[in-house]
Amino acid sequence: MLWVEKYRPKTLKDVVADKDILERVIAWAKRWQEGIPQKPLLLGGPPGVGKTSLALALANTFGWEVVELNASDQRSWQIIRRIVGEAAFSETISSEGEFLSSESGRLKLILLDEVDNISKKEDFGGESALIKLLKRKPRQPIILTANDPYKLSKELRDLCEFVQFKRLRTDQIVKVLERICASEGIKADRNALRLIAQNAGGDLRAAINDLQAIAEGRREIRAEDVVVSKRMQETDVFKVMQKIFKRFDRTVYTDAMSLDESPEDLIVWIDENLPLEYEGDELLRAYLVLSRADMFLGRVRRRGFYRLWRYATYLMTVGVAFAKQRAKGGFTKYQRPNIWQMLTLIKERREKVRNILKKIAKYSHMSSKKALNEMFFFIVYMLRHADIATASKISAFYDFSEEELSLLVGDKRAREIKEFIRKHGIKRVVEEEVEEEIFKAFEKKVEETKEEAEKVKEVKVEEVEKPEKAEEVVKGKAKRRRRKKKKEKAEVTLDKFFS
Ligand SMILES: Nc1ncnc2c1ncn2[C@@H]1O[C@H](COP(=O)(O)OP(=O)(O)O)[C@@H](O)[C@H]1O
Ligand SMILES: [Mg+2]
Repeated sequence: MLWVEKYRPKTLKDVVADKDILERVIAWAKRWQEGIPQKPLLLGGPPGVGKTSLALALANTFGWEVVELNASDQRSWQIIRRIVGEAAFSETISSEGEFLSSESGRLKLILLDEVDNISKKEDFGGESALIKLLKRKPRQPIILTANDPYKLSKELRDLCEFVQFKRLRTDQIVKVLERICASEGIKADRNALRLIAQNAGGDLRAAINDLQAIAEGRREIRAEDVVVSKRMQETDVFKVMQKIFKRFDRTVYTDAMSLDESPEDLIVWIDENLPLEYEGDELLRAYLVLSRADMFLGRVRRRGFYRLWRYATYLMTVGVAFAKQRAKGGFTKYQRPNIWQMLTLIKERREKVRNILKKIAKYSHMSSKKALNEMFFFIVYMLRHADIATASKISAFYDFSEEELSLLVGDKRAREIKEFIRKHGIKRVVEEEVEEEIFKAFEKKVEETKEEAEKVKEVKVEEVEKPEKAEEVVKGKAKRRRRKKKKEKAEVTLDKFFS
């Protein structure tokens, strides 16, 4: 379990906060208890200082239930409107939005977390709707939190009682870290904890995460175990992606490890933006690397081997970076992923690739691992670049479905291959020589490519250096015609080869 959750404060006395903040929120809650409705609280301040924790601990301390709603989620709004529109004094509402009878009804804290993310423009579910709602003086205690309360309009802020949270001091953070180490049975050097605390820049969540990462696999933490690296902000995910996609730079691994995002989140970012940068073989290679990283993450999820996070992170950063053919330039506008959608996509793709490898392994009589290392890219190369007849033979040999082919060569080529197979009634050939034939065809293709490359060179020389001599150009044309004929001949042999 993640320590930030394991050690989330249960009651107010576990929350590290200045005395006056605690006094204000306790007074606020007490008046609610006495039946006197209060303005909503707006807790503002940087991430990881205990805004959400304080709200939860407050409710817990006073025995209130919590209805945690997301202001930018439409479903939440149905619940919010019911609370305001229908709830009488004694009536309250469950987290599913059901009304409870007066007897079982207690006060319920409505927690609207991170409201600075809601849209200003939209009528429904936007800031103006929230303002309208708060003006109707809801009969339930409401707490709003925001990283940047000044992103909200003044009108909204004025409807709330504003409580400003500050970054936590190093000594406050060290105290929490010490408590955690004691409870985990870890011997920690005070200097080590100070380093972690200073590095976190007042963000306790970050400090706890760092502590857990450093403590992984250790019973004792010394100062030299703490690698001091400036923590990066959330926006630095973009910088990490830029480094992965555009360059060949192994330091991107260290960058990724110091991100606030977990590898689980980072892989979704990478997966979402990969197709914006990579194409063809490099895209496919990168997807394979990603699906291996994803396998490691699966093991972490199932068995809690957090150490595997490092391998997963290495694969998804350095692995993906080195899957590309060449460094890329320009500016790419990366996209924020839709996490749930992407997680299923990764899973599906992983399944597909695994099935393809299984087929290759089966028909080539080798393990899937060997199939990946020794056959996969070669087969993909052939499917893409060989003439349609050869590609169709290969596809039939491995019994690829159209869906699988699409993943390997793209929709258009997949359709062409499938059509060719249908038209010519190509079936799986079980001859043992087929594989060798494929290799021979491959060699031939390589020869042709070389020849073509030479031809391009020659033509260039003729056209650039002696453009004025029409005679030569004509000669060049004739040469090319001859070569084209030769190529046609070669194709015929290739066809024969497989017929
Ligand atoms: N003031 C605090 N007192 C105790 N624990 C805290 C405090 N601030 C943060 N934490 C720890 O960090 C985690 C994240 O804090 P959270 O309340 O979610 O921060 P915020 O909502 O301000 O971003 C909590 O689960 C808890 O473990
Ligand atoms: Mg929060």
